Amino acid sequence: MERELALEFVRVTEAAALATGRLMGRGDKIAADNAAVEAMRMAFDTVYIDGVVVIGEGEMDEAPMLYIGEKVGAGTPPQVDVAVDPLEGTNLVAKGLPNALSVLAVAPRNCLLHAPDIYMNKIAVGPRAAGSINLDAPVEENVRNVARALEKKVEDIVAILLDRPRHEHIIKELRRLGVRVKLISDGDVSAAIATAVDWTGVDILFGIGGAPEGVLAAAALKCLGGEIQGRLVPDDEHDRERIKEMGLQDPEQLLLMQDFIKGDDIIFAATGITDGDLLQGVRYAGNRATTHSVVMRGLTGTIRFIRATHRLDLKPHFVARECSVTHKTPRFS
Ligand code: FBP
Repeated sequence: MERELALEFVRVTEAAALATGRLMGRGDKIAADNAAVEAMRMAFDTVYIDGVVVIGEGEMDEAPMLYIGEKVGAGTPPQVDVAVDPLEGTNLVAKGLPNALSVLAVAPRNCLLHAPDIYMNKIAVGPRAAGSINLDAPVEENVRNVARALEKKVEDIVAILLDRPRHEHIIKELRRLGVRVKLISDGDVSAAIATAVDWTGVDILFGIGGAPEGVLAAAALKCLGGEIQGRLVPDDEHDRERIKEMGLQDPEQLLLMQDFIKGDDIIFAATGITDGDLLQGVRYAGNRATTHSVVMRGLTGTIRFIRATHRLDLKPHFVARECSVTHKTPRFS
């Protein structure tokens, strides 16, 4: 993919962030998500790609926009796979909490893992600990190997997890080992990326979150030189069939970096919606707004931070409005 596309993709996540950022703290995660989806969908129309959504807002019959299989872009080459999460952290925006992002990843056609909107078990680390994790190994073995790779004591390691009852056994084990534990209410894309960014102080991510979020995190970690391993968690036979239709013969196979993304040609873009560890959130002042984004390329490993000032009076579609779209069936209750 041409490197110039990187800036085009940032424009897409900026549009979604600008539209949904206005709804911060309103307590309405559906409206916030709708605003982001609609803005991202519109912004894609101006990008010169022939894109297919492979990680999206859900299946065609449940998501009016950016559903899996939907075509996006102006329809001209290159042919690409597109993974989107226009609003990663719907609750975070609804409550005004940190680390809500608008994210996307794009790779040449058939190079991204195609996965349904179900759960995935994950483990992720940054570049210095890449090669020292194993999703199938006990928590203790992973922590000791990561500590060795990072030349840290086990009690200096910081592990990040979604604060969920399903993770109680991991949290208990981490505490027994003396690991420092960071529990988050939502947003495991940002958490996975944090393992690869020095200033966050986070070393390893454990636990079950969304599968789409796993693919998006893999795209970022590929560019950052980190590693994620995952395993889909199908609920029933229908999920298993869907996974097989999407190309995985064994629905519960261990997913390594090369299963998430084939090759190095990947672009990942994210814009902060609320203030976070990696990116500042959207700031509005009169008819201007400021966004903070990151765009990364797998081919060169270049990580660019982009601070942009937008004239909202010249871009009226960037302002959140009452959305006509009905929301997809929620994946998680
Ligand atoms: P949404 O933006 O769809 O609300 O997802 C937020 C999130 O916290 C993800 O980051 C995470 O992967 C998933 O939800 C975890 O799901 P659950 O809330 O069901 O545990």
